[in-house]
Amino acid sequence: MAHPTIDHVMAHEVLDSRGEPTVRATVVLTDGQRGAASVPAGVSTGAHEALELRDLAERFAGKGVRKAVARVNGTIGQALIGMRVDDQPAIDHKLIELDGTPDRSNLGANSILSVSLAAARTASIFSRLPLYQYLQKSFGLPRPDKFPRPMCNVLNGAKHADNNISFQEYQVLAGGKTYAAQIERTARIIDELREILRHHGDRILVGDEGGFAPMLESNEQGLEFLSQAVARSDLRLGDDVNFGLDVAASEFYSIERKIYLLQPEVRAMTAAELISLYQELVAKYPIKTLEDGLAEDDWDSWKLLTERLGKKITIIGDDLFATQRDRLNQGIKSRAANAILIKPNQVGTLTETMETIATARRNGYQCVVSHRSGETCDDFIADLAVAIGSEYLKAGSLMRSERLAKYNRLLEIAAEVGA
Ligand code: PGA
Ligand code: ZN
Repeated sequence: MAHPTIDHVMAHEVLDSRGEPTVRATVVLTDGQRGAASVPAGVSTGAHEALELRDLAERFAGKGVRKAVARVNGTIGQALIGMRVDDQPAIDHKLIELDGTPDRSNLGANSILSVSLAAARTASIFSRLPLYQYLQKSFGLPRPDKFPRPMCNVLNGAKHADNNISFQEYQVLAGGKTYAAQIERTARIIDELREILRHHGDRILVGDEGGFAPMLESNEQGLEFLSQAVARSDLRLGDDVNFGLDVAASEFYSIERKIYLLQPEVRAMTAAELISLYQELVAKYPIKTLEDGLAEDDWDSWKLLTERLGKKITIIGDDLFATQRDRLNQGIKSRAANAILIKPNQVGTLTETMETIATARRNGYQCVVSHRSGETCDDFIADLAVAIGSEYLKAGSLMRSERLAKYNRLLEIAAEVGA
């Protein structure tokens, strides 16, 4: 076979699930084969994430990405012509070098990631391998001993919904012999939850990630409703089904006052008080994972949280680590969290994402591959989750096609590998 050489790269401005612009790039080889990828965008973004390039002009309230698209069609495209598409590290290092900034603010993490992912997809097409197998081979990953389980965000709050709750995500973690069985159980719980919320008098609306978005009396009430839904599904709490929370606490933390302000309870809490609340909730409900329980730079409190709950449950850093290897290393040193959320667009290239994952694995941190609140139907992260043997894939609820694209891709791969 001839070498898979890049002939040209092109990008377009497309819209994501919030109707906001994002970048889609296509890599074309000299033999005409091509692959494309679209990048997602978060709304509860962390302060330490790589930066997106936005037009800041009138169109789309400043969120247009024509500048980012122009970078792909210009500087980036020019530099990649003639390179081998199956040399992902070389492509990614070229992208990093062209950008030349630590936060990707020159070319934009959105332009860079679109090309990085499109290159990997094109290489997998050229090599006639499913993407997850190509990723395993290309990064020399060990054969994974587990298949990702769905981390399904069935109740949306905070920035992802128009309701009144501070906690951003209430997740169902369904067990089951196969991935398909886990999905079926999750769907059953969602059906029951809909009935419970209807009965409670809520209009059935969904948030950005496809989960229901009811008004609640307290953050705890979400867990109460989830427990009822599990019971009505004839499943056993703590046995068949556990819960996860993404609190996204940076969003309700006041840096000046060092206080977490919880709604709708209207409670101003210190980190220690909030940690005690988590301990109570973990004692009362089968919560197995807790993401961003504290703000992104509240390192000392993260250490305390991990001391208190880290032996019992999975403590995940999202905004805390922002998929950055340096921040993860800081966490490992200071014993903050025991798991990391993996979002490629927080760092900018696939190679850097894999370096962060390798660091996590070497230090016994679990990995959860994740979507963003603004998504397209691109399903790259499903293959990534399988390739690295991620503990979970976090892709929202089982509603809205941009969420289902990922869970459905896992159904397909699960059938292929017998998971
Ligand atoms: P975001 O939310 O994509 O809006 O940042 C997802 C998350 O916090 O995990
Ligand atoms: Zn999060």
